[in-house]
Amino acid sequence: MIQGMEPSINLRDALDRGESLPARWYTDPSITEREITHVFRKSWNYIGPLAELTTVGDYVTGYAGGVPVVVIRNECGLGGFVNVCRHRRHEVMKGRGNARSMQCGYHAWTYDLTGGLRRAPRSDAEPNFRLGDFPLLPVRAEALGPFVFVNLDADAQSVAACYGPVLDLIASSGVALDSLELHSREDWRSHANWKTMLENYLECYHCAVAHPGFSAAIDVRPDAYTLSAHGWFSSQSGPVRASALDGNSKVELYDVAGPVKQSQYHFLWPNMTININPGFPNLSVDVWMPSGPNATDGFSEQYFGPGVSADFARSLIAFNKQVAKEDDALTDSVQRGLLGGLPDRGRSLTGSETLVIHFQKMIVNAVAAPAQ
Ligand SMILES: [Fe+2]
Repeated sequence: MIQGMEPSINLRDALDRGESLPARWYTDPSITEREITHVFRKSWNYIGPLAELTTVGDYVTGYAGGVPVVVIRNECGLGGFVNVCRHRRHEVMKGRGNARSMQCGYHAWTYDLTGGLRRAPRSDAEPNFRLGDFPLLPVRAEALGPFVFVNLDADAQSVAACYGPVLDLIASSGVALDSLELHSREDWRSHANWKTMLENYLECYHCAVAHPGFSAAIDVRPDAYTLSAHGWFSSQSGPVRASALDGNSKVELYDVAGPVKQSQYHFLWPNMTININPGFPNLSVDVWMPSGPNATDGFSEQYFGPGVSADFARSLIAFNKQVAKEDDALTDSVQRGLLGGLPDRGRSLTGSETLVIHFQKMIVNAVAAPAQ
């Protein structure tokens, strides 16, 4: 057994009773290390939109379980690689763009679009040096609809096997995935454990209390707002409020009266969320990556359907940012509570927080020690 860690069977039983994970699961660097090894390096990590990888040489960079990765379009399709030079381990590619080859900016070792090392200055004079011995390390790269993912685990199920049905759910919202256009992308950092943030995402029990604008736009009452777990992903959905459509909200709202009549909030294990709000076709993506136990690095992308007005885009982005600001205050506070370690266990509601419990069980299954 891992020192200080209860067997997974005890933890799962406690979760079923509504007890949360112990506080140290959110503050202990050794737990974060186990999560990186057993969760992030064995799962699909969202990297960027397929629309940025349409022409040979197009590439995007990102991270999977803390490992720099690059996905590049080559003659064979999508090539995924560890974005680290075989020489001194400098990162090879930066950002995103189009390249004829992948050249490291440190000593100009140059790789072709399939990852083969083609040139290493002065290596001709080096005894026993063969270019063929030092290709970029490959990683799996697969697309699901308009989204591109990488996985460091060569034996993992395909991305379609893990999350395929989420595409049908999104289509049922009225948002056509293949017509979406990327509007903006930004990086961010928060001061809470990545699980603290995702557990907040996975329930709307707090919405009526903490999100007055959101709750005026979307019906968050338990009989209207649905929660469903589908294995490797889970979904929440709430209809647009009649009072918001009628213009009778007590708070000022963006224009919710478009063809999309419901919200959808999908969580793709372990760290991607996809959000659709009522109104004109829109979709945002958030990715949440641990940076030690007490911070989370992430990025967000905002998409809109064709022809959506700049006014609607601006007001929906402001709406999303307001919700994120309210959530950050909540999760920062929870993290301060967890850092104190008392109380050691929280008490979840097994109905309204069923997706939080589902998520915590997946964490336990991946990370905890099996019973002896
Ligand atoms: Fe929230």
